[in-house]
Amino acid sequence: MSAFRYENGSLMAEDVSLADIASRFGTPCYVYSRAMLEKAYQAYRDALTAVNRSDALVCYAVKANSNLAILNVFARLGAGFDIVSGGELARVLAAGGDAGKVVFSGVGKKPDEMRAALEAGIFCFNIESASELEHLNRVAGELGKKAPVSFRVNPNVDPKTHPYISTGLKTSKFGIAFDQALPLYRKAASLPHIAIKGIDCHIGSQLLDPAPAGEAAAKLMGLVEALEAEGIKLHHIDVGGGMGIRYRDESVLPTADYLAPLLKALEGRHEQLLFEPGRSLVGNAGLLLTKVEILKHGEERNFAVVDAAMNDLARPALYDAWHDIAPVTPRADDGASYEIVGPICESGDFLGHGRHLTLAEGDLLAIHSAGAYGMAMSSNYNTRPRAAEVMVDGSQVHLVRRRETVAELYALEAPLP
Ligand code: LLP
Repeated sequence: MSAFRYENGSLMAEDVSLADIASRFGTPCYVYSRAMLEKAYQAYRDALTAVNRSDALVCYAVKANSNLAILNVFARLGAGFDIVSGGELARVLAAGGDAGKVVFSGVGKKPDEMRAALEAGIFCFNIESASELEHLNRVAGELGKKAPVSFRVNPNVDPKTHPYISTGLKTSKFGIAFDQALPLYRKAASLPHIAIKGIDCHIGSQLLDPAPAGEAAAKLMGLVEALEAEGIKLHHIDVGGGMGIRYRDESVLPTADYLAPLLKALEGRHEQLLFEPGRSLVGNAGLLLTKVEILKHGEERNFAVVDAAMNDLARPALYDAWHDIAPVTPRADDGASYEIVGPICESGDFLGHGRHLTLAEGDLLAIHSAGAYGMAMSSNYNTRPRAAEVMVDGSQVHLVRRRETVAELYALEAPLP
């Protein structure tokens, strides 16, 4: 059951009313539920324990939501982390995460980021190109270390999701082409400052059909066996992230069922398994609370101008993504169809099209499923201070990021002398 539910006609986050949160912290405001975060993580743990894979490491993909409080919740549960920058590594360490459980993904790691990760003692680098391998070997050599690596292999499997978030096709910039992987492992085995640890793949995001992940894992197995035949033994197999969530009316499998084909493909292998889930851990644990500022009844359409915008939640503008939008305190009378838009000067600044709602100015709306790739992709476009973020834990509310002030937005700038 969701922690966001109506009680006495008003939407709650766990035991706290969203109306109270709005009056205490203002809007727009991201609201996260600790219970929902923990439940989503536990679903992975339970699914893995059920198939005797309790040694598996679930590395939360920090990019989905990198607030320190979110990272800290997962760190306390024993999670690992999947990072894509030196900045994300710093966040994980600041939030109490264990560097020894960090995997470092991404196509363009810079030498100073490699250095920081080596010095912190991360678990593994997910290498995405021959050139990156050479760079890492050099940097590790300068530090007198051996860098633990796994290769992100591109299995050329169609994940059947939005093209902007498909990553495992041949045309993608991600990963090492399947046929180039074996020669690159041979090369790595000969490099003095590289230690081969694993293999990795991530084919895309918001995947609802579990078959492509199973197919990718099966392809990976072929490679693992070929490596073994050459005497290259792996310590782990990282199957990436990608499990989708319900945004609207999609039928979404329980975690264990989604993972089943993938785990089946890996049956009989003794390597440790790694997962890199982002969205499925945080997406439905968060919503964006916003206030209706202006109702505007145009010739053809009704507009509800709210105080959140594409700079707070870019997904609708960027991917035409659907987020459920619900009143915090629903009204009884008949409503109308509204374009839910922000105050930004772009026609693409919308949060929802044609939503049937009964609204008055000053009403609060909850934009659901905004825990993943919401705040993380926000910007200050139009010199808009970013939203506050709070985490609810039972009847407690913690401010986990205060709202920015306008002065902070230009504090790093300087007029010409
Ligand atoms: N591992 C790697 C290497 C990734 O690139 C990603 C996401 C993940 C794990 C986590 O994937 P997830 O479990 O969250 O699907 N901004 C887009 C999503 C971009 C995903 C990027 N990579 C959105 O809002 O839908």
